[in-house]
Amino acid sequence: MKLSSTCILAITTAVSLIRCDSFQQHVLQDKDIPIVKSVAIIGGGAAGTSTAFWLSNVFPHEGSVQVTSTIFERNSYLGGRSTAVPIKGDYSLGIIELGASIFVEANKNLMKATEVFGLNRTKLTSLEEEVSAKNRPGLGVWNGQNFVFEESGSYWDSMKALWRYGLTPFKFQSKQKEVVKRFMDLYDTDHGFEHISEVVKSLEYQSLLNMTAEAYLKELGINERFSQEILQTATRGNYCQDLNALHALAVMVSMEAGHGTWAVESGNYNIFEEFARRSQAAIQLQTKVVAINNITEVDTNGNAVQRYVVETTNGASQVFDEVVLATPIKFSGIHALPFPTRQEERPYHAVYVTLVAGNPDPSYFGRTLENMPTFVVSTGAPLVDKFEDGQAPFNTFSVHRFLENGESVVKIFSSQELKDEFLDKLFLDRSWTFRKGWHAFPKLEPIAKDQTFPSFILKASEEDESGIIYTGAFENFISL
Ligand SMILES: *[C@@H]1O[C@H](CO)[C@@H](O)[C@H](O)[C@H]1NC(C)=O
Ligand SMILES: *[C@@H]1O[C@H](CO)[C@@H](O)[C@H](O)[C@H]1NC(C)=O
Ligand SMILES: *[C@@H]1O[C@H](CO)[C@@H](O)[C@H](O)[C@H]1NC(C)=O
Repeated sequence: MKLSSTCILAITTAVSLIRCDSFQQHVLQDKDIPIVKSVAIIGGGAAGTSTAFWLSNVFPHEGSVQVTSTIFERNSYLGGRSTAVPIKGDYSLGIIELGASIFVEANKNLMKATEVFGLNRTKLTSLEEEVSAKNRPGLGVWNGQNFVFEESGSYWDSMKALWRYGLTPFKFQSKQKEVVKRFMDLYDTDHGFEHISEVVKSLEYQSLLNMTAEAYLKELGINERFSQEILQTATRGNYCQDLNALHALAVMVSMEAGHGTWAVESGNYNIFEEFARRSQAAIQLQTKVVAINNITEVDTNGNAVQRYVVETTNGASQVFDEVVLATPIKFSGIHALPFPTRQEERPYHAVYVTLVAGNPDPSYFGRTLENMPTFVVSTGAPLVDKFEDGQAPFNTFSVHRFLENGESVVKIFSSQELKDEFLDKLFLDRSWTFRKGWHAFPKLEPIAKDQTFPSFILKASEEDESGIIYTGAFENFISL
């Protein structure tokens, strides 16, 4: 078995890096007795569950190296920010995604996972059909006073229409295509990366990351109005952030939605539950890890080996051969790590999701119910002078479902918590309001010249052989 080729970089919704150099050494020593390695995975979201899955693929349970994984998740469910809630708390009314609601077709791993797992994918066209049957516009770009752009069909389909009708400048299209193509080629490589800077270099993405999307698009000669009214709509819809705050790669990734988006009918979290289930990992829900400490043990050959003690709030501690930290360090709540990690922290963008069942008040937008867009994206910088506080009160306002009783189910994303007084302006009545705030994405700000990415392997010094694996190392390079 050639293990080095299995040291892969797996790209899912997150990037998981699987290290196996330390395992290889043992394989060479003894071929007959299986080596059993234990891995603690902290965080049961996209990164954690897919790490468990890929580990079990690379090291199958009957192989000569066997990996037993344990996923620690502080919430009562797997999936992280890929989670769905029942409308009005009633599953018979259907579910609505609270976080990651779509994935792009370019995400080969998720596309394949849904196929292999037999999960039904949807292109989200049922609402579109309903909307067009009612002759209502789909996307509306709202500047606080009027709609500066409208397009029929659902939001993501409108993004597609921009490509289809050639509304997107050719210069941007070809650049975007080329950038995504290079990324797609990563799926065909089988070598891993220890640092994101190596990935950036191999993809020739430096110039996409070191300046704002605004500056980049200007340099590319893209019409300013097109950038502000259309391209920014995609970044606000995707990352809730504006072109002047994002690096150029973020706008390229956001516009990839124009090439097809998907969702799992029964909820995207099913992919991650399935990753975890198939990995046969032990799953410890509602278990918060508070500390990770390294210890040195002596193996049967008398060699010193580094192992890790994972301590949880319930006072329990377990020893593992490897640790994968699959949650942002900043919000992990882990107060002790074996190594200093200050430089690994990245700022995150606070996003508030508000779900409402009720009747929207079209007069807020100066419209009637018949001609009010079902997906409203507000304009961002610099088109903010028509908003009360010089800032849009929400990023997106989207109707997701029409209920039999005539109510709409609406999802609103905003950068601050939406107060009842504001919701009372947007709705004539509300029978259900659900709020959730979280640090959903890294701030995808430009990366300064001297700024370094954390390593995928956190260790005390470069010379150290062991360390803990950190999936969040790719923040703020990309957030898929
Ligand atoms: C997928 O869709 C088919 C047809 O609607 C249905 O019979 C089946 O139960 C669905 N499978 C899952 C996993 O939801
Ligand atoms: C960005 O990176 C490119 C490519 O390495 C380089 O030519 C350019 O000078 C950099 N710009 C800034 C502002 O650092
Ligand atoms: C923990 O790791 C550090 C850095 O590699 C090392 O210096 C230290 O001796 C280790 N501690 C134990 C108890 O093994």
